[in-house]
Amino acid sequence: MSLSKAASSKVISQKSIEERLQIQRLVPTTRIVKSNAGSDVIKGLTQTPKTLPPAYFYDDRGSELFEQICELPEYYLTRTEMAILQQFAGEIAKITGACELVELGSGSSTKTRILLDAYQQLGYPLRYLPIDVSAGILESSARQLLVDYPSLQVHALAGTYELALTQLLPTQLPSRMIGFIGSTLGNLKPQECDIFFSQITNALQVGEYFLLGIDLQKPKHILEPAYNDRQGVTAAFNLNILEHLNQRFEGNFDTTQFEHWAFYNETENQIEMHLRSLRSQTVELRALKLSVNFAVGETILTEISRKFDLDTIQKQLTTWGLVPLHVWTDPNQWFGLLLCQLQA
Ligand code: AVJ
Repeated sequence: MSLSKAASSKVISQKSIEERLQIQRLVPTTRIVKSNAGSDVIKGLTQTPKTLPPAYFYDDRGSELFEQICELPEYYLTRTEMAILQQFAGEIAKITGACELVELGSGSSTKTRILLDAYQQLGYPLRYLPIDVSAGILESSARQLLVDYPSLQVHALAGTYELALTQLLPTQLPSRMIGFIGSTLGNLKPQECDIFFSQITNALQVGEYFLLGIDLQKPKHILEPAYNDRQGVTAAFNLNILEHLNQRFEGNFDTTQFEHWAFYNETENQIEMHLRSLRSQTVELRALKLSVNFAVGETILTEISRKFDLDTIQKQLTTWGLVPLHVWTDPNQWFGLLLCQLQA
């Protein structure tokens, strides 16, 4: 580099977007279709009652619909978590110090901006590793972030978080924080939760951080409308999973022949989202060589969205060595944000 000092500092601080962006596709779609991919779909649709993995909601269209859900008046989750983040992001940044931010299920990264702002304000270097199954939303939101944060480096990972967690390279900053916000944890059954926490502890070094956002238990009359909005966006989001399967596995689901059904199961403390067959019908998924019969009224469970109790989850995290340093909530105690540290 033979540039004068003044000129070079300008060049260095103005690294281009391409220089600061890296996108890594963890599971190329084509390989999925040809390898064992879809075995989870076969498994779910051949069991009784039928189920589908909620990760299949998030093709590019599904991710868009989810963004719309987040803005719905009935869907209090995003708004409430944002308010908590806004209030405590500064504190989070102070506690962790300079750290690489890994986010599982980053989507549009809207809430993450609050954290990036806080780290930026303290003058910390910004390095962000968003992980999402939707490569489209991953790339477009990464590009927008790079425009808005001129010193930010982004290493995006397109794939499932299970896969990404095992492929993280050693951090380039003094510490690392894995963020799992938005209550995506609610999609996991209790047993899957434990597997997930063990994957988190494996991906972290002792002293590093885990930021968890979870929806809390509350009365049915608040929960159910959040999953049965008046504009029908949640219904469209639920039905879109069938369009995604059609596309990905050469299927012939007719979405007009299914309906959205969501309710709060008070025994399990979870919202259950189903698709109900409106008639007796047979659906083919040619790429999977699968033919599925539906009786009238038969359902597919597409998602559980568990609602948590703060004391219970804190105890569970602690048994995994993920010790909650701070637990924040909103005035209604509708949503919880926990900053945990991996301890030996
Ligand atoms: C992204 C899993 C947190 O469970 O509330 C929104 C997904 N499903 N509306 C949730 C969802 C229906 C959402 N999570």
